[in-house]
Amino acid sequence: MTPERAWWKEAIVYQIYPQSFNDTDGDGVGDIEGIIEQLDYLDALDIDVVWLNPVYESPHHDDGYDVSDYRAIREEYGTMEQWEELLDGLHDRDIRLIMDLVVNHTSDEHEWFVAAREQDPEFEDYYVWKDGHAAEDATDSPGPADRTPPNNWESAFGGSAWQWDDEVGQYYLHLFDEHQPDLDWENTDVRDDVYEMMNWWLDKGIDGFRLDVINLISKPQEYPDGSPHTDWVGIEHFSRGPRLVEFLDEMNDETFAGRDTMTVGEMAALQLADAGDYVGADGPLDMVFHFDHVTLDYDDEDGWWTVVDWDLTDLKQVVTNWQTGLDDGWNAVYLGNHDQPRIVSRFGDDGAYREESAKLLATYLLTLRGTPFLFQGDEIGMTNYPWETLAEQEDAQTVGRVKAAIEAGDIEGFDEVKELVRYRSRDNSRTPMQWDASEHAGFTTGDPWLPVNPNHESVNVAAERDREDGILAYYRELIDLRHETDALVYGEYELLLPEDEQVFAYTRTLDDDEFLVALNFSDAAATVDLPLDDARLVVGNYDDEPTGEPTTLRPYEARVYRR
Ligand code: GLC
Repeated sequence: MTPERAWWKEAIVYQIYPQSFNDTDGDGVGDIEGIIEQLDYLDALDIDVVWLNPVYESPHHDDGYDVSDYRAIREEYGTMEQWEELLDGLHDRDIRLIMDLVVNHTSDEHEWFVAAREQDPEFEDYYVWKDGHAAEDATDSPGPADRTPPNNWESAFGGSAWQWDDEVGQYYLHLFDEHQPDLDWENTDVRDDVYEMMNWWLDKGIDGFRLDVINLISKPQEYPDGSPHTDWVGIEHFSRGPRLVEFLDEMNDETFAGRDTMTVGEMAALQLADAGDYVGADGPLDMVFHFDHVTLDYDDEDGWWTVVDWDLTDLKQVVTNWQTGLDDGWNAVYLGNHDQPRIVSRFGDDGAYREESAKLLATYLLTLRGTPFLFQGDEIGMTNYPWETLAEQEDAQTVGRVKAAIEAGDIEGFDEVKELVRYRSRDNSRTPMQWDASEHAGFTTGDPWLPVNPNHESVNVAAERDREDGILAYYRELIDLRHETDALVYGEYELLLPEDEQVFAYTRTLDDDEFLVALNFSDAAATVDLPLDDARLVVGNYDDEPTGEPTTLRPYEARVYRR
């Protein structure tokens, strides 16, 4: 059955991390003017939607995911007028804009939290406040010293998820940094204020939202302890809370319903079996980001702390489950974003085969069934950064976790986890966009807020622009092909060679138009038997066409056949 058509199913999304995209005023931080300056770059890439990471007023304890004013633009990024100019500039080029919606928590500098701390009756129930447990010998007015937190939930950034507040004399919940208190979604005033704010942005003409950690908003009211053996203690209780579906349905009714928007919810720990509650004909959202493929390299016991060598067969299994198991729901296809390492360093080879593997991953992203999400810089094959110290990094997750582990005595110092951090740090994808070979890669004339990757001398947009056979040109070629080909958007997906350890191969079929995609995810040649009768090669990442049967794919070779 061919799915119902929709513009957001046919769209290709490009994610912009504003802090690191393009700085025009020399303060070392990207800005909105910088995005405006690159509108023609986006237009030439022929993407359809921009997902803009948070640009709201924020003290930036978590790079903008701690919002202090939802209706204002962060000063370092520019003004609301510039933001409006950006929206118009995108719309003039037929590019839509989705904003990042961060409503599981706010900043502790948001006026709601400031008022809650002052115990203003209107706001005292906007966040989750608890007494915690008093020690047996507690005094009459117990302070944090003779109390323990309400439960063992952990912050994603290390340590307890509960912070004692002297002013209020209670703990508040923060599933992320202590400067990111969780809103209490049980409170209808909170929900009404959030919906009003969402409608305010939608009325400004935006085209939808990416909903940050949206599956965390409902918490079981008994706040039970979590199993201590998980990467994020408590997640089984707060990742799919009892009222989540109800809240999302209500949000949909109050905001998106009746509007022509696109919505994609970020849902860590989401299981395919539950996805139908959120996406599909009656679901409140259009798409979800699941994490099954970006946690393959996490350890079962140790989670983030141990990098596991993943098998291609596992990746194939995960992808195939989601490609075929969503019923009338629609996939969001991604490999990287601002929270993940660079895709070529993780799923490809950022050494000898950087170019080939960057193109192979482009082929993957643009030929699967689902809306492709591309992250800035992947179109030129940007790689992880060679971090030497913790001080060079800003990522609240990496810095928070490593510091908490040092404090707890679990590790002695940064050097013990340097290789791990080099692989995992979210700052890998947040280093400045590499526009050219000049100092600071043409990103800024000032001091960049995160260091520029030294490989910008060869890996940059200017160099790619001059190349007909470069990574950027390859992205454009595939984007064009996807745009003009319904089978690549709507066609059925079928996995071939499920047991092969090197080659990921699948078909995409719509009526009598069939594509066969073969991707050699390894640095060795792979010989496979593929049904290539009458098939013609339409795209490939090596410049000559191989011959002979059975087929041999060279290292990181990607081929797209059509028949
Ligand atoms: C999401 C964001 C991430 C942020 C976290 C807390 O996972 O993508 O960057 O740190 O939510 O808001």
